[in-house]
Amino acid sequence: MINFEELVTKNEIPMFVPEGIENWQDRFEKARELHHWINRERWKQYNTDTRWVRWRQADIPELTWADRHEGDVFSWDRDYYRIDRNDPEIVVRDKIYLPQFFLEPEKYEIIKDNETLLYWYNFCSWAMPMAEKYADVFESNNNKKFKKMMIIRYWCPDSENDRNYSLTEQREFCSEKFGVDHYDETYGSLHLGETDQELQVERPDGSENWIPVDLTGNDCLCIVGEEGGEIREDIGGTNHRLIHNKESQPDYERYSLILDVDPR
Ligand SMILES: [Fe+2]
Repeated sequence: MINFEELVTKNEIPMFVPEGIENWQDRFEKARELHHWINRERWKQYNTDTRWVRWRQADIPELTWADRHEGDVFSWDRDYYRIDRNDPEIVVRDKIYLPQFFLEPEKYEIIKDNETLLYWYNFCSWAMPMAEKYADVFESNNNKKFKKMMIIRYWCPDSENDRNYSLTEQREFCSEKFGVDHYDETYGSLHLGETDQELQVERPDGSENWIPVDLTGNDCLCIVGEEGGEIREDIGGTNHRLIHNKESQPDYERYSLILDVDPR
């Protein structure tokens, strides 16, 4: 098992290759499968208690809005950005949340007949103990921690319509809108891969020296959140952002896998 304490204190960019990652080489394919499968009906079918909310950003409600699908087994958020007022093109971020309670035996009974959900159940069974170990870095007065796996899809549903914006422009807008530089509101997170290299992290000294991190292979990354940085002032939070990578294959979608350790 990785020694996270050593990893995050000794490296400016704490990357690691998790033990057993070779068993999950199809994880991006399976992420795609999950996102192409999900819809409102199926979300309801595999949850026993659901709540749907439509949200709009108060100052620009016609430009950005979201659907929040909360459930007792798993949740799913869909965020929308319209590129500009005069054009119909939108970009979308879908986040499927698998909280630690997804691994409870009664949840297994609900999802076990579904091959895709079962894949992610097994993935969480492998990954969550790792996050549990990482959480020890942020131990303070017995603080409660909550783990949640996020399977994220960034995409351009209007990519076929490139009259106003090319696919590259749509992708760029998507990464720019959803990837504004920020610190997570977490203790920390493990980034378990992205299909295209777009993630950049700032050096911890705040030098605005941005380092592209390549997580398209087996390398994974530890990020420290705002809460984590308060507990571990010696490490500090990790400022990070997305910059569209024009060298990557032009595709209308991009996937990212992140396992959060949150305050409870
Ligand atoms: Fe983040």
